[in-house]
Amino acid sequence: MPEDTDPLSRPASQPLWDWPTRLFHWSLVVLIPLAWWTAEEGQMERHQWLGYTVIVLVVFRICWGFVGSPQSRFRDFLKGPDTVLGYVRGRVASGPGHNPLGGWSVVVLLTLLLVQAGSGLFNSDRILFNGPFYYAVSSETRDFLGVVHEWAFNALLAMIALHLLAVAWHQFRRREKLVQAMLRGRAEGKSGTGAPAPWWLALLLLAAVVGLGWWLLQQAPPPPRMW
Ligand code: HEM
Ligand code: HEM
Repeated sequence: MPEDTDPLSRPASQPLWDWPTRLFHWSLVVLIPLAWWTAEEGQMERHQWLGYTVIVLVVFRICWGFVGSPQSRFRDFLKGPDTVLGYVRGRVASGPGHNPLGGWSVVVLLTLLLVQAGSGLFNSDRILFNGPFYYAVSSETRDFLGVVHEWAFNALLAMIALHLLAVAWHQFRRREKLVQAMLRGRAEGKSGTGAPAPWWLALLLLAAVVGLGWWLLQQAPPPPRMW
């Protein structure tokens, strides 16, 4: 009997979403409302650190999209236009992970999060707080990135609303256990296709991303001398 068809040689059930992907997801659910709240309250020191955490998490998730567990990888959920259209028209079935349409919405969400947090680095409240790279660019670029920071948040809110509607539709109309799988890693009818990536790889990657971020922050130019 070939090895992969022997039920005894196959592991029982693999997690669909590994813990780094789940931790990444539920951290965003906490961090984004907090980032909004701290900006509203003018708590810019806290706002800045929440924003840095979002950048670290998103950069980590992008790297994890190349080296993470099977369903967390971009190649698992980013499909060409034919597959996406086929899925929308009900001609193509989805695999266990993100469906072909949802896969692209993950890319849009990650991009918006990076644009949002990235533009903040050059932003200022024009009173007491400047982002670390405020003095690295011209005043025109700062003004532009200030507008980007404001508008990206509207786009992010719209995408999150769409995301929640899509999740609710699959969860309640199609009776798929999406939320349970994102919480526990697996659920009835939702398991992964291969062994999860090792935990130490996630920790190593996270440490590398934090280290790189820390080093970049040290490169931020100081305010110009007035006299
Ligand atoms: C700030 C709000 C949120 C953001 C920014 C967000 C973002 C994301 C992202 C980026 C992913 C892709 C995960 C990955 O592969 O790394 C995802 C997936 C998912 N999210 Fe959210 N999310 C938010 C809120 C929520 C909430 C409140 C729920 C449910 C109560 C939820 C349920 C899910 C589920 C079930 C998936 C997996 C979808 C699938 O099976 O294809 N999300 N979300
Ligand atoms: C995903 C992460 C972030 C989110 C969701 C977020 C969200 C927001 C929101 C909703 C506002 C109020 C809208 C506005 O007036 O522009 C704001 C303002 C601001 N943010 Fe962020 N932000 C993030 C990251 C950052 C980062 C990393 C920095 C800088 C280190 C930053 C710096 C600022 C500043 C200086 C303002 C005040 C702008 C003003 O008063 O006109 N933000 N942010």
